[in-house]
Amino acid sequence: QGVDTFPEALPARLEEIAQDISLCRRCPIGCNGTRSVPGEGPERARLLIVGEQPGDQEEREGRPFVGPAGQLLDEHLNRAGFDRSLIRVTNAVKHFKFEQRGKRRIHQNPTAGEIDHCRWWLDAERRLVKPDIILALGASAGRALLGRTPSVAKERGRLHPLPDGSSLWLTVHPSFLLRLDGEAQMRERNQFQHDLMQLRAML
Ligand code: URA
Repeated sequence: QGVDTFPEALPARLEEIAQDISLCRRCPIGCNGTRSVPGEGPERARLLIVGEQPGDQEEREGRPFVGPAGQLLDEHLNRAGFDRSLIRVTNAVKHFKFEQRGKRRIHQNPTAGEIDHCRWWLDAERRLVKPDIILALGASAGRALLGRTPSVAKERGRLHPLPDGSSLWLTVHPSFLLRLDGEAQMRERNQFQHDLMQLRAML
């Protein structure tokens, strides 16, 4: 299998996906040669959480949502009564896109084209995990599920049926909450918590 083409056969195991994404050079982000970050969590999960892409810390550790955004996500999931060990967590894009500024690696948003390229891997993961509900964090994750970039403000807080029989629940990305402060942060965190609690009641 070439590193710039998708495998001919669909991956039959999640481990295969993890191995294959590390070779994937189908988009410019993959070509930067950083460590890919596969999904983590049970092979079968009723809830799959999809973020945007690994951040600096995730790339270093090779695990999704272990940095500041992940810690905030965990805090809200705990408060909503979720058991993290039953949830699978993954990303729309499997490599970290950044701009180097001195010693710092500054996060860059993936393009629509990069999200669409990487969707092949997410679809393969969904086929194996078979979640009932997919929680998309932010517009990039929403695009990877809907095939169009949604307006999170308008489309959050309701179930969107997906062609494979699962449903999408959309909310903001925890990094957005981290960029706010004061009252705005409080308000948005409450709204995020509310979205998670509504989701919890459905599972
Ligand atoms: N943000 C994401 O979208 N995914 C991660 O894994 C970490 C931060």
